[in-house]
Amino acid sequence: MKVIQGREISALLNPRPVVLVSCCDAGGKVNVLTVAWQTPLSHTPPLLGISLDLRHYSHQLIAESGEFAVNVVGEGFREAVEVCGNCSGRDTDKVLKAGLRLVPAHRIRPPLIAGALAHLECVVRDQVRAGDHDFFIGEIVYAAAQGESFSDQWQAPAGDVLLCLQRDRFTALFQGRGS
Ligand SMILES: Cc1cc2nc3c(=O)[nH]c(=O)nc-3n(C[C@H](O)[C@H](O)[C@H](O)COP(=O)(O)O)c2cc1C
Repeated sequence: MKVIQGREISALLNPRPVVLVSCCDAGGKVNVLTVAWQTPLSHTPPLLGISLDLRHYSHQLIAESGEFAVNVVGEGFREAVEVCGNCSGRDTDKVLKAGLRLVPAHRIRPPLIAGALAHLECVVRDQVRAGDHDFFIGEIVYAAAQGESFSDQWQAPAGDVLLCLQRDRFTALFQGRGS
């Protein structure tokens, strides 16, 4: 056994699905960030949590608006995941830069990302400080998945969810190759 430190510690718990979280400001301007630290929390009510660095622009937007959408994506979004995870909405229009197409959500103001494998529309129920991050607990008020990708569980080959191995390394559920 060897001692693990720093960012390697969180990588020990990978692979995990990497998602694109969409949010918006009071004027409706959309921002998207890449999130690997997400987890289901409760069946009834349906709750999930995302852990966001206090410095991120999306942290500010979600704290202010109380809403966000989790977009579960596949291999085709690898470049968008890298773009949205490596620059800030404070100075970059990531929707434009990543070439994302947006569609209106059903129950919340932030839009959804077209072509995602699944959408989870969330309303913030709690915000808990966790060191240098805040853990946002969201109630899922609307959830939908692509029928050919998900039926009770992810279906090969369409449900090829993008998984995070390290901040800059990914694989996919049914491909099993990391790069
Ligand atoms: C693969 C990957 C996973 C990431 N996961 C998270 C995460 O779980 N929480 C977080 O706060 N930032 C995470 N980030 C970093 C943010 O996505 C990144 O800092 C982003 O530029 C913040 O954008 P914003 O300032 O527009 O909110 C991740 C980045 C990558 C590349």
